[in-house]
Amino acid sequence: MSKDTFDPTKYNHSNNEPFAAVMERELSRRCILRAGVGMAAVGMLSGIGLTGCSNTENDENLTTPKVELGFDSISGAKLDAVVVPKGYNAQVLAPWGTPLNDFAQEWQADGSNTALDQANSLGMHHDGMHYFPLHGSSTDGLLCINHEYIDQQALHPIGPTKDSNSLRTIIDEVRKEINAHGVTVVRIKQTNGIWSLVKNDSHNRRFTGATTMDISGPVANKTLLETPFSPGGDKVRGTLNNCGNGYTPWGTYLTCEENWPGYFVNTGTQTEDQLRIGIDDKNTRYGWDDLAGNVDEVADEFSRFDITIKGASATDDYRNEANGHGYIVEIDPYDNQSSAVKRTALGRFRHEGCVYGNVAEGQPIVFYSGHDSRFEYIYKFVSDALWDPADAERIDRLTVGEKYMDQGTLYVARFDDNGMGAWLPLTMAAATKDQDVLADHFANLAEIILNTAGAADLVGATPMDRPEWAAVDPVNGAVYMTLTNNTKRTTETNAANPRLNNSTGHIIRWQEGDDAGQFSWDIFVFGAAEDGTAEVNRSGLEALNQFASPDGLAFDARGIMWIQTDNGAPELTEYTNDQMLAVVPSQLTTDSGDLEAINSENQAELRRFFVGPNGAEVTGLAFSPTQTDLFLNIQHPKNWPYSNDAAMETPSNQSVRPRAATVIIRKHDGGEIGV
Ligand code: FEO
Ligand code: CA
Ligand code: CA
Ligand code: CA
Repeated sequence: MSKDTFDPTKYNHSNNEPFAAVMERELSRRCILRAGVGMAAVGMLSGIGLTGCSNTENDENLTTPKVELGFDSISGAKLDAVVVPKGYNAQVLAPWGTPLNDFAQEWQADGSNTALDQANSLGMHHDGMHYFPLHGSSTDGLLCINHEYIDQQALHPIGPTKDSNSLRTIIDEVRKEINAHGVTVVRIKQTNGIWSLVKNDSHNRRFTGATTMDISGPVANKTLLETPFSPGGDKVRGTLNNCGNGYTPWGTYLTCEENWPGYFVNTGTQTEDQLRIGIDDKNTRYGWDDLAGNVDEVADEFSRFDITIKGASATDDYRNEANGHGYIVEIDPYDNQSSAVKRTALGRFRHEGCVYGNVAEGQPIVFYSGHDSRFEYIYKFVSDALWDPADAERIDRLTVGEKYMDQGTLYVARFDDNGMGAWLPLTMAAATKDQDVLADHFANLAEIILNTAGAADLVGATPMDRPEWAAVDPVNGAVYMTLTNNTKRTTETNAANPRLNNSTGHIIRWQEGDDAGQFSWDIFVFGAAEDGTAEVNRSGLEALNQFASPDGLAFDARGIMWIQTDNGAPELTEYTNDQMLAVVPSQLTTDSGDLEAINSENQAELRRFFVGPNGAEVTGLAFSPTQTDLFLNIQHPKNWPYSNDAAMETPSNQSVRPRAATVIIRKHDGGEIGV
């Protein structure tokens, strides 16, 4: 997300600051999380948590596989081009507007494509992404791509058409905007090192801001979802502001609804959950509701964004429409007849991403997800069902999703200042910090989920510096989460968010404890400019790895962690555009085998691998199974792409209509990426 879509309002008024200002240095003051316990131990979800300091006596026979970065850190850059290390190339694939089938005409550089074209083409502002191989192939697969939001200026020939009152007037423009949101599933193939999109493949499909979807879990009931469009309350329309992503061990894609509140308006009396999440009382982000009641409106396609109570009952207005948004949405990319399903048990908030913890037979499936707003929280969901490896092979994937994602317990994180933390359940019986229980505040679990952040306030969760993506180390199960920045932290810090005016962000890490309610944590790295003060540049970063605003985050199968940035702080933007760095956290250990954070001694192990073009954020990350192809997304570039070669600079005397695009990075020799 760029600053164009981030909502800077602070909606958390709970004053949850459960710890006094603890300003001890996180990096040196205590022994921390345990290092790699070897691939053999991957999946021992509850067996690897530490409950204190060094505890390596059981690890003697376990080894961590050696992965070494095989490229030199590259310099920052400020070009209308991407930059990759020597020996690599970068290809542009599937930019916004590329037709998926013959129902769309080719993308027009003058912005004149129609809403129908857009419904059958790649959406705008690519974000989270995953590669799903067909038959295990690294040269033939399905790419699922989130489209977070739109640039109205670039989408239309000369921006959005409005009347003298600034109201939208052209139906096809608004439909085009709605269709530019959502998710793309597209088949891609690689031949001789070049990837191409397979037009008209039967897997190709779009989920847009208007696609009818299913909804399941606690909120799926008529009382909360009934609308004139769905009197039974069993269908919802559209997925919006699809930011980070996830995928599941059973082969489905997860898309995360982030800044969805801005698409709705309630000009009447707001409910508690609407106030807490930040639904506006005046306007919607793009004015789609301006066309409500237009003679050509179909099935209240624009009216539904106005959720003000206007009629006698829920079938007379769209008071419940927003209740169908704010979720993790599951998509089966392999089955082109399947519906997307909104999994409400994982909570309703501004979901950034969704990643599962290491998986083990007979253990629950765990998902982590952050709420990206200032002073918001980190959540995990633990399934009731225990993992059966046979479920990974089933082809009724959404039925498997129902098994693991519809029943379970949602928790929110409290980071204590001794390096330990508590996962606080959000259940009716859960104790609040005021010594009552959530059942004293909510009628049922559905209401807790609808106002997830409000429930988290009550139990005393720790307000964080904008939680974004999480990633799980395949070597040892440690979970990492980016906290992108928080310049509004002006008075009080807590141990997990220890810097005032945190303009450069940090990455926190934890390991699960002996039961689902505890964990241990430390801060892995602090973003900073190399010339930052000691208070700011706590990880000792230097020119070749200075970064700010970590956002996208993922491990590849070998244990390399990739960090992507969005909106580098002013301290950094003089030096470089947004970027992607790599590090192998499981290799950074103390002599006694504890995991180490980045510090001035080992900082050179954090290396810059990629720099994006001017104006863009670097986001979305996927790998082919052979690790020879790295897919990432360039969102909101300024004057790019100029050619299919992502590294070819747009000539300074030319201006192109900017297009978000996937970039595929390969080695010239086709070898593994990063090593
Ligand atoms: Fe859409 Fe939080 O970035
Ligand atoms: Ca984004
Ligand atoms: Ca961001
Ligand atoms: Ca993001």
